[in-house]
Amino acid sequence: MIDKARTLPADQVFLDLEDACAPLAKPDARKTIVASLNEGGWGERVRVVRVNDWTTEWTYRDVTEVVEGAGANLDCIMLPKVQTAEQVHALDLLLTQIEKTMGYEVGRIGIEAQIENALGLVNVNAIATASPRVETIIFGPADFMASINMKSLVVGEQPPGYDVGDAYHYILMQILMAARANDLLAIDGPYLQIRDVDGFKRVAGRSAALGFDGKWVLHPGQIDAANETYSPLQEDYEHAENILDAYEYYTSEAGGRRGAVMLGDEMIDEASRKMALVISAKGRAAGMTRTSPWSPPEA
Ligand code: GLV
Ligand code: MG
Repeated sequence: MIDKARTLPADQVFLDLEDACAPLAKPDARKTIVASLNEGGWGERVRVVRVNDWTTEWTYRDVTEVVEGAGANLDCIMLPKVQTAEQVHALDLLLTQIEKTMGYEVGRIGIEAQIENALGLVNVNAIATASPRVETIIFGPADFMASINMKSLVVGEQPPGYDVGDAYHYILMQILMAARANDLLAIDGPYLQIRDVDGFKRVAGRSAALGFDGKWVLHPGQIDAANETYSPLQEDYEHAENILDAYEYYTSEAGGRRGAVMLGDEMIDEASRKMALVISAKGRAAGMTRTSPWSPPEA
């Protein structure tokens, strides 16, 4: 799996010491992870290791062994089941000690915080601001469902009996607000039915629509669906680029220094530009290109 992960079109790879790794396998897994990070071959992919949460006996050894062994080849530590800002702070202090001891650049290794229970959600803004290392807030739907006693075993799907909306809306929005308020990434968690790509798209589509930046994939078969879902539609991407060009032209001297103008049947203004910037940035990051760029009217 590790060798294959080096070849797949995912933006990030995380190697797991937590729930996908049996307790008896954890000591050896630390060694496997250090070796595979140091072996390289990860290209542009963000390299992350998920350690065990602070309520276990494994966290400090996970962090010290992995970061001492491969800290130069690691971008972030993912901390699961974060409940308080202090837990992020504790990881920050430990990372700083290791970086100083090993002669690494202090503060380079980031933290991805997983929100997986009620206390974590209640504290999400404090968690987001607990350390400048925090780069990403992640929703952990499986643990979260267990933590709040949700009456379902199907991760990410609506619990049977709840027919008046999206049971995850409140949680997703809280995480998204904490992320956006602090300029962090908001990432949706796993979809466990790995052969049900339509189901993946349905669930991913909801968080993507709200503004989430991406979602975990558990299997290569989910990657294309994820990349497609979190990228804009081609027509939206082109429209966004056209708004940017048209707005730049019309606000300029040549375009008449106008702040609110018509683009086809639509009025565009500064707020349109801000919305267009979001879509255009996502499209450009996904490597999208334009087929019919807007051009100014003939003088
Ligand atoms: C992921 O860790 C989850 O619990 O969904
Ligand atoms: Mg979890």
